[in-house]
Amino acid sequence: MTRAILRPAPELRGVITPPGDKSISHRAIMLSSLSSGTSTITGLSKGLDVLATAEIFRQLGVEITENDGRVSVASTGELHATTAPLDCGNSGTTMRLLAGILAGTSGQHRLVGDASLSSRPMDRVAIPLRQMGARIDGSGERLLPPLEINGEKLNGISYNVPEPSAQVKSALLLAGLFAEGATTVVEAVKTRTHTEEMLEAAGISLDVAPAGAGRRITVLPGRPQPMQWVVATDPSQAAFTVVAGLLAQEGSVEILDLYAGQERLGFLSVLERMGATLTQGHRDGRLNVTVAPSLLEGTTVYANEIPSVDEVPILAVAALRAQSPTRFVDVGELRLKESDRMEATAQLVRSFGGKASIEGDDLTVFPAMQGPVHVVIDPLGDHRLAMAASIAALSCAEGSEVTVLNIECIATSYPAFFEHLHTLSASVELESA
Ligand code: S3P
Repeated sequence: MTRAILRPAPELRGVITPPGDKSISHRAIMLSSLSSGTSTITGLSKGLDVLATAEIFRQLGVEITENDGRVSVASTGELHATTAPLDCGNSGTTMRLLAGILAGTSGQHRLVGDASLSSRPMDRVAIPLRQMGARIDGSGERLLPPLEINGEKLNGISYNVPEPSAQVKSALLLAGLFAEGATTVVEAVKTRTHTEEMLEAAGISLDVAPAGAGRRITVLPGRPQPMQWVVATDPSQAAFTVVAGLLAQEGSVEILDLYAGQERLGFLSVLERMGATLTQGHRDGRLNVTVAPSLLEGTTVYANEIPSVDEVPILAVAALRAQSPTRFVDVGELRLKESDRMEATAQLVRSFGGKASIEGDDLTVFPAMQGPVHVVIDPLGDHRLAMAASIAALSCAEGSEVTVLNIECIATSYPAFFEHLHTLSASVELESA
């Protein structure tokens, strides 16, 4: 067990290239594995979630090797079922997207996960996949993992996704590649578009049209072509160092090469509304952001501004240091993430001396009074909570000391996190017990 001991960092200065985007990385491995030939991937995330996806496709018969940061994926385009369990680790994206792929892949498949993933509902993908003809089962009413899937012939359907979820949309679009006829997915809220963008880039026929506040996406069966994927850096991971830079009293933090799709950048607009001084510049389709120390005000954040709500824990840290309360509206999906992030984020705020209240699906954060704190945080195995707590620590008053326990979970998405805090000259000690 490793813990981090963090002290206030009034000045943060430096340039950070965040890890390769996690969502794009999973999909690059998946689409490469479904194509016949050799694809390459540069900039792939080294997080454990993405490594779990790679290992599973190796088990399914795909050759995946790495040489000097360049990953090569050689596949026949046919996946071969194995009797061994496919271990998705902590990664909901791996399990849900894989369910879509394996539903149409002949043979028996067993998908397992760690304790956190084993408590996350898979009915949201299993229900529509069953409508397509899939044989898929889990435990209890919400079809918790392990998931048992028997590959079947699938039929295209039209499905309105009831919850805003890129994972559900993506599972159905991937299953649609194996189905007979067209598969249409309608989402009421615009969620991240990596699956659509990457399928289209790999030659799959897609139709995307507006539908109310969301979109209607239709995919035709087919197999992606081999590609040379170049993965942009991850905006949701960048959010941690962005907030760190804002909450410092001096310095400047520059963050490079971010994926620039709108559905991933809502947190920047929220922070600007709170008073953040951010300079944004686009280069070669990527986004660079420079962050200056800023005095923040509270705001109201609507879930559809930050679909997938991944950035709520770190925005709650910004809210903790603002001059007035911040309300996160309609963020009930937080309860179904790697931990119950609704409760855990409220608890995090309270640990740092702020107040937090939960009413229905809304979370309100009241700023902390200034003054030194001595805090020990258990992130409950949730990478985003461990990173949010670490950033909160850097902005505490002089004389504070914060211990974040069990920081291993950060490696699921951002193995270089503490190295990057060191780059910014933050004071962090890591202790292994
Ligand atoms: C992801 C979708 C997410 C998000 C996760 C990655 C994806 O959740 O939380 O980190 O790659 O599709 P939703 O399915 O709730 O959108």
